[in-house]
Amino acid sequence: MVVGCRWGDEGKGKIVDVLAEEAHVVARYQGGANAGHTVHVGDDQFVLHQIPSGILHADKRCLLGNGVVLDVLDFFEEYDDLAEWGIDLDDRVGVSQRAHLLMPYHRALDHALENQAKQKIGTTGRGIGPAYEEKAGRRGLRVADLANAERVQGLVEAGVERARERIESMGGDCDDGLDGAVESALAAGERLRGLATDTGLEIMQALQGGKRVLLEGAQGTALDLDHGTYPFVTSSNTTAGGAATGSGIGPTAIDTVIGVVKAYTTRVGNGPLPTAFDEAMDEKVRALGGEFGATTGRPRRCGWFDAVLSRLAARVNGLTGLAVTKLDVLDTLPEVCIATSYRTPDGLVEEFPADTWQLGSVEPVYETLPGWQESTEGARSLGDLPAAARRYLDRIEEVTGTPVQMVSVGTRRSQIIRV
Ligand code: IMP
Repeated sequence: MVVGCRWGDEGKGKIVDVLAEEAHVVARYQGGANAGHTVHVGDDQFVLHQIPSGILHADKRCLLGNGVVLDVLDFFEEYDDLAEWGIDLDDRVGVSQRAHLLMPYHRALDHALENQAKQKIGTTGRGIGPAYEEKAGRRGLRVADLANAERVQGLVEAGVERARERIESMGGDCDDGLDGAVESALAAGERLRGLATDTGLEIMQALQGGKRVLLEGAQGTALDLDHGTYPFVTSSNTTAGGAATGSGIGPTAIDTVIGVVKAYTTRVGNGPLPTAFDEAMDEKVRALGGEFGATTGRPRRCGWFDAVLSRLAARVNGLTGLAVTKLDVLDTLPEVCIATSYRTPDGLVEEFPADTWQLGSVEPVYETLPGWQESTEGARSLGDLPAAARRYLDRIEEVTGTPVQMVSVGTRRSQIIRV
């Protein structure tokens, strides 16, 4: 399994793309079109939102598990784009019969809720929260329902009505092409029926047949509905436990959990970022790392490596290893810092606080290490790295208690160190 250890955007797309080479099946287990997984193949760049990054390797079966909220219009846009790029999709994509459909009225509701909220979450506007609300409220429309036109009609009509009522009660207007969008979504739903499968069963059969399965997380630990910086989180379990429920397999079927961390930290959307840089450094690293959202284009806030958050990620995900990405972005810096604890009015804390409001005012305690001021882009083994870069990685291992197993030093597939 590959899971994000921060607020998403850790570079999971690249790590999944590299590991997919060795897998037979790649499955997404939560989230939806809020994700943006950027993968570079040669000179081409792909941003995948819902279809697993494994699709860029021929012959891999790619699944969307039951934990996903599937935006059917966006899904086929991506599917058709991939086909246009010449990627053979025949019999390669499967969608869980138990996955919930994210409908245009969920998006409309997401926008209305954000517009009127005093405390804005800064969502991606993809309808994620409202779709999971309906799932938990037992009112959702699932892929399996698509086989029964009458049931679909009933669920969709009720969904539209509820969304209209809520939007209008907030002073919003939802006549903006909503009916047409719902019709298109239902037409796409018909097309989706051909891809419906039992993802949990498929994965278990693959494992029993000696095949390798890669579970691809979206977003990251700090955006997890239970373990993240609530309420500034997404509406799904992004952590390792979510992979079992969201793909339909038991936790004992998972033997490896790779946590992805950037060599620094970023966050997009609202909520605290304890290790945030000052303005000048923020701008500098954002430019060096091209830190703009893959889904929304929003600038990401940047900060130093946060060992406190990384330790939470190691614990709640049961990490067996770390993948450190974008090490090359720090190549020119004279010094690099790691936050090892937070100073609070109640003293030093080494564990990530549950109180998000307290988190907004903690003062990180930094350890400063020398920078390497040398390019790492050509490194293909730890031995190729400058001594100071190796020391930085060693320190990351020590403070997180997790071995570094992969290091990414550029966007290309070949720019990876396997330890
Ligand atoms: P939602 O998932 O669109 O409801 O957004 C909730 C929070 O998660 C916001 O802070 C978003 O910016 C953040 N978020 C959702 N998906 C991603 C992602 O793929 N990368 C980074 N942040 C994300």
